[in-house]
Amino acid sequence: MKSLTVFLAALQSAAAFPAVMESLSKRQSNTCTTSAKCNEQYEVTDADIGYNPNAPTAAQIASAGRNHCGNLVPCTLFSAAEQYVSTSGANAFQSPKSTDLRGPCPGLNAAANHGYLARNGVQSLAQTITGLGQAYGMSVDLAGILGAYAIAFDGDLVSMTWSIGGPQAKLGAIDSGQGISWSHNKYEGDTSISRCDAYINNGDAHSLSPTRFAYAYYEGLEDDRLDMDKFARAFAKNTHRSIGQNPYYFAPLFSTTLVSPAAYNFVIAMMSNHTADQPGGYLNEDMFKTFFAVTGDYPNYEWHPGQDRIPDNWYRRPSAQPYTATTGVFGDLLSEFAAYPDSFRFGGNTDGVNTYTGINIRDFSSGLYNAQNLFEGDNFACFVYQNIQQGLPDVLNANPLVTAAVTLLQKQFGIAFSAISCPAISEFNNNNLPPYPGRSYSPNPPSNAPQNC
Ligand code: HEM
Ligand SMILES: *[C@@H]1O[C@H](CO)[C@@H](O)[C@H](O)[C@H]1NC(C)=O
Repeated sequence: MKSLTVFLAALQSAAAFPAVMESLSKRQSNTCTTSAKCNEQYEVTDADIGYNPNAPTAAQIASAGRNHCGNLVPCTLFSAAEQYVSTSGANAFQSPKSTDLRGPCPGLNAAANHGYLARNGVQSLAQTITGLGQAYGMSVDLAGILGAYAIAFDGDLVSMTWSIGGPQAKLGAIDSGQGISWSHNKYEGDTSISRCDAYINNGDAHSLSPTRFAYAYYEGLEDDRLDMDKFARAFAKNTHRSIGQNPYYFAPLFSTTLVSPAAYNFVIAMMSNHTADQPGGYLNEDMFKTFFAVTGDYPNYEWHPGQDRIPDNWYRRPSAQPYTATTGVFGDLLSEFAAYPDSFRFGGNTDGVNTYTGINIRDFSSGLYNAQNLFEGDNFACFVYQNIQQGLPDVLNANPLVTAAVTLLQKQFGIAFSAISCPAISEFNNNNLPPYPGRSYSPNPPSNAPQNC
């Protein structure tokens, strides 16, 4: 896939950015064994990400003012009957069988464990859309894009299905898709909430690290509440941590630049509990642990693989105010990147050159976008949309089955992005990508090395 790469490789480019030098100086071998120890070893401070609680910037104040449902479509409605998510009967929790597939996404794992998605872990597009709407209030367009992308890049093109975990059983003579557990750099990216970067964990980016889980929850420890702003900070800090810890850190446009930070927002937007008093929702440690299959108390957590659940007596966001691709995902990414620019590192550089890599956005987009206008209006959404569209035929042209998958994905993108109008772009130029080592790193099953990191 042609994609914009945002990657820090050399000390030389880090020298332009003192905070990163700081992270690098903390870099040590990955030998920590307990949460408290790892988190001390890799501590990134508020100051490291440009946050002073006593003097937040205007963008940080705006970020902190966000509703749990997202800043562009805050939830204002509450109907207990409509928003209650059943965890009994057909939707009772069941641990996955040994043949059922589970992977790096707690939202999907929990939905499958409650029968909102197929319990065996293999999903069609229709199932994906219906199940995630029912369980979480994810919009049809967003579930449609995420599902179609999973089918096209990690799925089985014969049955047009995809796996929420590792590879599906082989169908006939053709290898089925790898599933999202093994989609490093395609779907799965570095800088996850609770999963280690693939490279520093022997390729395993789907198992939960209790250490990282504690690191994320730390932001909400004081008042037992997580919110959009706290998790935006957690992402910025984890970005420093990845850069400091992982020599193969790599941030392709879709996986690490879009999916990873969006997942932090997904926790708040789709795992919060909604009440008549707080139609916007709230999220505490209990719910966070339940969804992520974790027990214990900060900072000493234990992970129970495959046991991700939807809490009992839990109310999702209203169907009438769903989390969408444009207003939801991009709306929140823009707030987050504006408040904590380190999470999308164009370093405040106004000429379009990424401070870290020397990559020039302007060159990628034939002059259309630059670092100044990338986050204005719909530009970032357009940039991503156009970049992915341009890349599609390239990725898939070797396989005769791909036409259907490409068509499906194009259609889903078209639906989701129909509300925004993007300027015409002549071509994306990805020919000058520097040869970063993380770009070609591609772990394969069955490596399984849950570790604290
Ligand atoms: C078709 C829909 C979806 C797809 C294809 C999908 C895919 C993924 C993938 C590939 C990852 C790994 C990304 C990484 O490396 O960090 C991930 C992580 C995550 N997803 Fe999903 N996801 C979907 C829906 C959801 C929903 C509905 C929720 C919330 C209710 C959710 C919450 C999360 C969270 C919280 C993570 C981060 C996990 C961690 O780092 O510990 N996802 N998802
Ligand atoms: C969610 O909120 C409702 C009130 O609307 C409350 O009764 C319930 O206990 C809460 N659920 C969880 C999981 O905290």
